Amino acid sequence: MLVTLITGASGGIGEAFAREFAARGQNLVLVARSAERMHALADELRQRRGVRVEVCVADLNEAESPVRIYEFCRQHDADVDLLVNCAGLSCASDFDEIPYGKLNEIMMVNMLATARMTRLFLPDMVEAKKGGIINVASLGGLQGVPGLGLYSATKSFIITLSEALHVELKGKGVKVVAVCPGFIATDFFEHAGHNAANLRLPISGTDVVVESAIKGLAKNRMRVLPTLLDTVLAFSQRFVSRKIVINLAGYFAAVNDDR
Ligand SMILES: NC(=O)c1ccc[n+]([C@@H]2O[C@H](COP(=O)([O-])OP(=O)(O)OC[C@H]3O[C@@H](n4cnc5c(N)ncnc54)[C@H](OP(=O)(O)O)[C@@H]3O)[C@@H](O)[C@H]2O)c1
Repeated sequence: MLVTLITGASGGIGEAFAREFAARGQNLVLVARSAERMHALADELRQRRGVRVEVCVADLNEAESPVRIYEFCRQHDADVDLLVNCAGLSCASDFDEIPYGKLNEIMMVNMLATARMTRLFLPDMVEAKKGGIINVASLGGLQGVPGLGLYSATKSFIITLSEALHVELKGKGVKVVAVCPGFIATDFFEHAGHNAANLRLPISGTDVVVESAIKGLAKNRMRVLPTLLDTVLAFSQRFVSRKIVINLAGYFAAVNDDR
């Protein structure tokens, strides 16, 4: 049975993707660590939308998780024709102060898990000559963000990988899009120890991310910027020095009040 697999589906943007795809009648596999939250969401979506929803509890900070998730899908007769790599985390702090263990976790979940999940599920899509991948990157991945340096570097990785894949997959029936949201109202900031009240740009709802990503994938775009402001910010980078771009990014994120 064809399914859409969403990592980071226990809350925030991933949950919003799950709700939207279920409303469109797509069967789902939900992946994250929070079992209770995902089971509650799965029960609700099965009941309200009549779709099949499987819950796969997995910690993407563990190297073996992507393979286990792939095997889970095979065992549950779930053919993934749409993969949404959404799980991710940050740590609001200058690089020299990030807890050492967090370094690994941020790189593991944001980069390695995304690359491994894509590598595992993509060949089946290529063989079927049909499928899609939505990689949730960030506006922060368009430049280094002081105070969020490692996070922004992991999101640059996702954008770069998605761009190369987009071209590699031309003519193979599989689409890849990187969605690059600005600030979105989820628990992300709390999880990152980042005071959302300090942010110096507006915060949007999860709906703009989901809508733009789905439209972007349908139109086979390489990268989408969910709001007009995101587009203006990305475009305006062309007219100022890189140093200004990076300083402004740090100012908007406002991790450190002195910036
Ligand atoms: N919010 C924003 O402003 C914003 C802006 C740009 C991009 N993004 C990106 O959007 C994506 C979703 O973020 P969000 O805003 O929805 O944040 P969120 O509410 O904190 O959700 C993060 C999701 O990732 C999952 N996750 C984290 N660590 C995991 C792990 N080790 N194993 C498995 N799942 C893990 C969490 O599930 P469990 O805790 O249950 O495991 C949760 O479902 C992230 O990639 C983030 O970088 C967010």
